[in-house]
Parts: sequence; structure tokens; C-alpha cells
Amino acid sequence: MAEYTFVAEKTGDLRLDADEKERRYAEVAAQVESCLDGEPDLLAGMATVACLLHNAFPYYYWTGFYRRVGPARLLVGPYQGTMGCLEIDFARGVCGAAARERRTQLVADVHAFPGHIACDSASRSELVVPVLRGGALAGVLDLDSPRSGRFDEEDVAGCSELIQRLSGRL
Ligand code: SME
Repeated sequence: MAEYTFVAEKTGDLRLDADEKERRYAEVAAQVESCLDGEPDLLAGMATVACLLHNAFPYYYWTGFYRRVGPARLLVGPYQGTMGCLEIDFARGVCGAAARERRTQLVADVHAFPGHIACDSASRSELVVPVLRGGALAGVLDLDSPRSGRFDEEDVAGCSELIQRLSGRL
């Protein structure tokens, strides 16, 4: 059972310094390991990661996954936050770009991103990390914040590490 050290208030205003971010990512990683011990199910893993991340970081406003369900189609998976779009074609938006290119997308201003999909008009910045399973795309982790430039390289590193842990159990 996870004990919550951090429960986020979703104002998006609180900035965390680098040490505090590192500490929180390390704590989430440890919780993921203990909560998912021996459980290989992808949906259970995605739900657990979405919950733990959403509660650990105050600037995470929408936190969750889209799953690959066809050659070029993503369908919403476990998430926390406001309503997400149901499906996303690989040709569209930040999630589509991450899925198509299989590359992390760090977007400081979503309004400057061609084809950005506004599931929630409050979203200003976004980080999307592909989830790969044996070289194939299983889905993407999508994070949104109501403040511009909220995600940085520390978030990229922390989330990539978590996704590698998740993929390692698939
Ligand atoms: N903004 C995303 C769509 C997903 S939602 O924000 C939850 C995009 O452009 O891919």
C-alpha cells in the first residue's frame, strides 16, 4: 500500500527546485516498484504510475496514458485530471508526434505546437514520453500543465526512468 508523502494541489504555481524534484521522482520510482511487485499487467502499471505522479507533482494538471490500439491510433488509458480526448491519430498533436517519431516531446508552449489538440483549454505546456515494449510502441505517457514552460529536462529524465521501469515489466 502506497503512503502519500505528497498530495498535489493543482494550482500549477508551485515550483520545485532540482533537488526536490529528484527526491520526488526517486520516491515515485520506489513506490512503483513496491506497488507493482510481480504484477506484469500493463493497464495496472499505467494506472499506478498515473496516480503516483499526479499526486507527487503540483504542476501536473493532466497525468496519464494513451495506449496504441492500431497502426496509427491512440486510445485514452488510465489518467488523472480533467476529461481527456478519447482518441488521437498519430498525425495529430503532441501525443501523435511522440507516437509517430517514438521520441519524447517537451513543449513549453502548446499554442506554438502545430496541430496541438486542446482537450482542456487550460493546458499551456506538455511533456509526452513514448512507452516502448520490445522496440514496439505500446503507448505514451502524457503530462499537461496550466503554466507555460512547466516541464524541464529533470522532468524528462525522471519520467523516462519511470517509463523504462514500467516497460521492463511488460
Ligand atoms: N494535448 C494533447 C492531447 C491529449 S490531452 O492534452 C490530454 C496533444 O496535443 O497530443
